[in-house]
Parts: sequence; structure tokens; C-alpha cells
Amino acid sequence: MFICGFNMAFLNDNYLKLKAGYLFPEIGRRVKAFCDANPEAAKRLIRCGIGDVTEPLPSAVVSAMHKAVDEMAARETFKGYGPEQGYDWLRHVIAQNDFRDKGLDVADDEIFISDGSKCDCGAILDILGAKNKIAISDPVYPVYVDTNVMVGHTGDANEAGAYAKLVYLPCKPSNGFIPLPPKKHVDVIYLCSPNNPTGAAATREQLEAWVKYALEHKSVILFDAAYEAYITEPGVPHSIYEIPGARECAIEFRSFSKNGGFTGTRCAFTVVPKTLMAQTKSGEAKPLHPLWNRRSTTKFNGVSFIVQRAAEALYSPEGKAQVAELIKHYLGNAEILRKGAKKAGLKVFGGVNAPYIWVRTPKGVTSWQAFDKILGDANVVITPGSGFGSKGEGFFRISAFNSRANAEEVARRLQELKW
Ligand code: MLT
Repeated sequence: MFICGFNMAFLNDNYLKLKAGYLFPEIGRRVKAFCDANPEAAKRLIRCGIGDVTEPLPSAVVSAMHKAVDEMAARETFKGYGPEQGYDWLRHVIAQNDFRDKGLDVADDEIFISDGSKCDCGAILDILGAKNKIAISDPVYPVYVDTNVMVGHTGDANEAGAYAKLVYLPCKPSNGFIPLPPKKHVDVIYLCSPNNPTGAAATREQLEAWVKYALEHKSVILFDAAYEAYITEPGVPHSIYEIPGARECAIEFRSFSKNGGFTGTRCAFTVVPKTLMAQTKSGEAKPLHPLWNRRSTTKFNGVSFIVQRAAEALYSPEGKAQVAELIKHYLGNAEILRKGAKKAGLKVFGGVNAPYIWVRTPKGVTSWQAFDKILGDANVVITPGSGFGSKGEGFFRISAFNSRANAEEVARRLQELKW
């Protein structure tokens, strides 16, 4: 109701440019509608859509959390606010185990603990300028695109869902789903390896080409390594810092969601090397590390003590062995799903260094048609490839995060489908 002569407050118009809902809530909405309309089919529904872990937390983690809760319950050991960047003991164990033990030069204070890589992938835009030319793979984890839309780094989307001003790097079977550096200049590059959604992992040579490009163009690579624990092939880099020069051009995002099963527990970290520079409006080179530190201390109060102790336990000998078991379990599912989809006559990619299988839809079938068919006939939820970008059209993703029995059942049902 119009009450007085003032104009309304302004909303962020950029949000109105976003296409429909975020992919996974949109899938959830469609699945719910299907289940409401088909209660019998709903009983046999198997979810291989969102990449959400199914197996319980490793026992090393559970013990560490119980102990941490007890500490919180006693006056002498109670903890209030922790350091915004994360406790030193967790930053140390990460830098030591994930990097220095592997010969990679990462200091403890270059590790910033957070409550998730999704959050950090969006938050990182706070410390990057608005004028950057941004390159994004297509298909891609939708968070990279949508967060850039939200802060106004793009124009409007076209019919196919591609936003003006973004540089899309097509990922196709012909390039093994790993894009080459573009001919033109870009300032910020999102890379994800092993890749969500295609399951492809970049080789050393491919990452070397990107680091060379970034150093020449003075670009920043945002390297999402959330799935590094799934790399099985020898020689495939687990970190961008395995490539000489990456400390001067890359930020790396890591997560405990997919290795330790922390999707509901929430803990991740971002590596911002002190040697990484970007320029001010006046052309002066400045390090990004103090900016990320400043952002963290202002907008974040850290991850809970209990959860950080849980993350620390993943690095104990028992924790490491239990994580290895979890990875083996999900990769075993991936193998079963790959084989099942192949036997069903489908063309299959990924699933070897990643928990995702990327499947070509049968000829003439769109991604969403495949989604509806697989949901309706097999009562299995997958993710339509077009939800990850226009070049994802004609594909769908099967997540291997499930129980073994469900993975086997999905493999069986895929073979029963009549397209
Ligand atoms: C996915 O299914 O793509 C992931 O679960 C999303 C995420 O990690 O946020």
C-alpha cells in the first residue's frame, strides 16, 4: 500500500537477471511434484542428483567431535570466538599434510578455514574488482556463474542461458572437457579439477598451459579442487600449486565435504598465497592475501571449534585410512554406474578421477527430457546437463554419492530403460 511520498528502497537488480532457481532447488521442486503425484513410484525413488554424501562421518571424526563437545561443556576448556581465519592447529595440519609433505610451498597462514567452498567461491568476488573479464567453463558448477551475476559482473542472459560479458570456455568430448586458454585476454579464470559436472581431471600439461597464460596475462586463476581426493590416475595434479608459477597466479579452494563426508558438517579451506598480486584502479600491484584476511575478519566469525576439531581428525592416521575407505566406496559406485550406463548403450565420460559420471543423452533427447524419462520410468533422480550451462545440453550427470545397493540398483534400472 502506498503510504507516503517516499520512493521504495532499491533491490539488487542483478538478482533479476538470474535464470529460474538455483539448479538443485529447482530439481528438488520437480522431484517433489513427481513424488506427490506418484506416491508408489516415490517409494522406490533413488537420488543421484545433487552430489551429497550418504555415508556416515568417519569414526575418527565422531570421536574428535565428542571430545570437543566435552571441552565446550567445561569452564576450563570452553571456547568462545575462535580466530576468523581458523585455529592455528588446523591451518598447520592442512598446510603440512596437503601441501608441504608433498613438496608444495604453502604456509600455515595462507590457509583460511571456512564453512564451505561454495561460500568461498562466491565470497572471493569481494576482493576482486568489478571490471575484470571473467572466463568460465561451460558446463560448470553454477555457483561461479550465479555469484558473478549477483554482483553485477555480467549483462543479461540470452535464450540459451549465456550471460553477456562472461567468456565461456566450451568443454566438449573433443577437448576432453578441459578447455584450452582463450586467445583473448581474461583477468579471472575459474577452473575446477576434477571437474564438476563432467568428471574430467586436468593433466599437468593442461594446467601448465593455464598457469603460463595466467602469468603472461597477469590473470588470477580460481582453482576449485573440492574433488582432488578422487584422483586415481597417477600424474594428475591434486593441487594447482604443483605447477611452478601457480603461487603467483592462483587461489585454490578445497573442501572436506566430499572426502570427509562434511556436506552437513561444513568445513573447507581456501589457499591465498602471499605472492599473489592484483592491481589497484591506479595500476599499482598489491597482494590479495591481506584483502582476504580483512574480509574474513570483517564478515566471518570462523567455523565452530567442534567442527574444526572434526576436520583436524581427518588428518590423523585413522582419519586418513577412513577417508580412503569412503573414497573407495564412492569410486566403487562410480565404476558400477559407469558400467551400467555403458551396458545401457549410453556414451559415458568421467567417473574415474571423480564421483560424477557424465552421460550423453540418446540422440534427439534433451537433458531435461532425459531427466523426466529417468525420473518417470526408472524413478531415479539425475542432474540435467543443461543446468550446468548451454554446452551441458545433451548430457546428464549421475552422482556416485550413494549406498552400494542403490548404485547397483540404478545401474540395473538404467539398462531397463526404453528410450
Ligand atoms: C553438486 O551436486 O554439484 C554439488 O553437490 C554441489 C556442491 O558441492 O555445492
